[in-house]
Amino acid sequence: MRNIFLLFFAYLPLVMCSQKPDNLKDKFANYFLIGATINQEDYQIIDKDNKVLKIVSEDFNSVTPENSMKWMHSHPEYSKFTFSNAQKITDFAKENDMFLLGHTLVWHNQVPEYVSDIKDKIKFDLHIKNHIFQLVTRFKGKVDMWDVVNEALNDDGTLRETVFLDMMGESYIEKAFQYANDFDPNVELAYNDYNLYKPNKRAGAIRIINSLKEKGIRIDAVGIQAHWDLHFPSIKEIEQTIIDLAETGVDVMITELDITVIPNPYELAGIAREEFKKFEGDKKWDPYQAGIPDNVQKKLTKRYRDIFELFVKHHDKISRVTFWGTTDKYTWRNQNPINNRADYPLLFDREYNKKPAYYELLDIDLSEKN
Ligand code: XIL
Repeated sequence: MRNIFLLFFAYLPLVMCSQKPDNLKDKFANYFLIGATINQEDYQIIDKDNKVLKIVSEDFNSVTPENSMKWMHSHPEYSKFTFSNAQKITDFAKENDMFLLGHTLVWHNQVPEYVSDIKDKIKFDLHIKNHIFQLVTRFKGKVDMWDVVNEALNDDGTLRETVFLDMMGESYIEKAFQYANDFDPNVELAYNDYNLYKPNKRAGAIRIINSLKEKGIRIDAVGIQAHWDLHFPSIKEIEQTIIDLAETGVDVMITELDITVIPNPYELAGIAREEFKKFEGDKKWDPYQAGIPDNVQKKLTKRYRDIFELFVKHHDKISRVTFWGTTDKYTWRNQNPINNRADYPLLFDREYNKKPAYYELLDIDLSEKN
């Protein structure tokens, strides 16, 4: 009997080592950080939904505030800063030892009206500088990386017309990075954008990165947002995007991953946001209110496997993969651009259960790829 005990204990470490990870952060621990977002807008998750916080702490080792640090929430009036929700997420990240993203310092969306009312160029520059100063110093030592500039590019690779470009000229991007670096030389600095699989837009991002580097301004990483669907972009396009961006020498990150399974209103592009209201409740744009059909669930599961196999293949270039949300219940896709739709882009369903795609990711064979 005693010998059997001894044998059991002798083999215990082996048994333990061969145990398969049962959560995402352990599964990909040797490959990249795995992130999620915590929202405050509409749903107030940080105060109300402990179930989501449990998922975030169990499966993820990186967190991005989905809205709380954005201009309209953190700096709603000319001289007023509100950090309470952002602070709660910061505390949560610290308690759970997570990598914390600062999202985002300079972005044309979710900016209060008063910013466009600043007509004096010197005042405008000072205001941006103060905004960056307040956020970066407030979260110094807590935020690990800032998305310094978000979505500065048009799809053709030119700079998007924004109030920042208008008031400060093209140098607003370098100024933003320079200010962020001056206020916290230790925090990592990133550029973040969507549709980087499109060659012209990607070239634009590469131009931004190289031009910062040539000027001696620090940039550490580039974020591929990854609001994708079941077919686009192709695995080949995603791979080329990762390879091309990595060639600049900065870390590549997947920052806002979600895979929509409902029709994307491409053909409605160009119409004003308010006009989308008339499509609410229209089955053409919202076919799965009653639940995701099995065949679509299967496609989603396969799509997630294909994408993650690619990320694993290129893990030497990728430092983080962040999902834009946690459960399908709270995904921004349900509200964008048509309200109250039922989309299923994430790994946890509306009842907080793990979806087949979740288990598919745990099942990916990493043995050959170490
Ligand atoms: C979205 C949030 O998810 C929504 O809750 C909010 O209403 C609008 O913004 N690109 C970004 C993110 O960089 O900040 C956006 O987040 C989604 C698109």
